[in-house]
Amino acid sequence: MNAVTLNGLSKTYSNGKKAVDSVNICLSAGEVFGFLGPNGAGKTTTVKLLNGMLTPTEGSCTVFDINPAANPQKAHALSGVVTEHAQMYDAMTGMENLVFYGSLYGINPSESEERGKALLRELELTYAENQKLASYSTGMRQRLSLARALIHQPRILFLDEPTSGLDPESAQNVHRMIHRLASEHGITVFLCTHQLRYAQEICTRYGLMEEGRLLAEGTLDTLRLQICSGMTLKVKASRIPETLLCKNTAPGAFELQIQSEEEIPAIVRKIVEQGGDVYHISAELPSLEDIYFHLTGKEQTT
Ligand SMILES: Nc1ncnc2c1ncn2[C@@H]1O[C@H](COP(=O)(O)OP(=O)(O)OP(=O)(O)O)[C@@H](O)[C@H]1O
Ligand SMILES: [Mg+2]
Repeated sequence: MNAVTLNGLSKTYSNGKKAVDSVNICLSAGEVFGFLGPNGAGKTTTVKLLNGMLTPTEGSCTVFDINPAANPQKAHALSGVVTEHAQMYDAMTGMENLVFYGSLYGINPSESEERGKALLRELELTYAENQKLASYSTGMRQRLSLARALIHQPRILFLDEPTSGLDPESAQNVHRMIHRLASEHGITVFLCTHQLRYAQEICTRYGLMEEGRLLAEGTLDTLRLQICSGMTLKVKASRIPETLLCKNTAPGAFELQIQSEEEIPAIVRKIVEQGGDVYHISAELPSLEDIYFHLTGKEQTT
């Protein structure tokens, strides 16, 4: 059984905007799926379709074989969701919120409290357990909403920008937790994010969206093969022969595109034979960021 299936999934909003356009994706249980794409690509719309908050205009989607629009309760029992605007109650404490959301899933208060304490510990929020939500910062709310999404021990987590508004340390904690949930508890994760470096660390597969269409899908290795094969050779040398096609990125720093490591010895030999001194050399495979910018045709700024 697939954890997630999108089958020709399309959604056109009432204003005529086709936000999701014939998307096909199959995810196995235990995958950490990075759903990437620029603003307006259709990521949130897809998550809403997978949570039964929207109904497809064409095609279909399932979560563990359940159609979320037809069986929202069954789908919700299996899914935890963190969106950008999580609804929680300002007048209640962090723990009261967790116990309340636990009760919606039929979990008794003492069980919710026990699970809640463990989650808050992991998210480094124990100190704010009895603080009213009104006094929480954005980052604290974001982490509490992750705890809320996990209170009923879902099989799949939908995370729509779970680290937006978090400082780098908290964002790293959340990413570590996502990784642990998948690797130790076998939870499937569907993660919409713009943080490509973190995504590359924790995701097992990726889907790249633009203007409602799925541009590419697969593991990092398959995306590398399909989209930017080869690697970048970074060389620090006093000088480099003109016959080597390379980009001069900084004084004494050069970059060459090569297809395999086999080419490196000949390149080094050429530099040395022409009187150049080599200080440093490294070959790098394309990163997720390289693939993303290559596909979306946008200029890389870093
Ligand atoms: N309720 C709505 N009615 C009409 N159009 C909408 C609605 N919600 C979203 N859209 C449009 O659908 C497209 C996809 O939006 P969506 O929110 O799914 O993108 P996204 O990939 O999540 O973007 P972001 O990275 O900014 O979160 C956008 O053009 C957006 O303006
Ligand atoms: Mg979005």
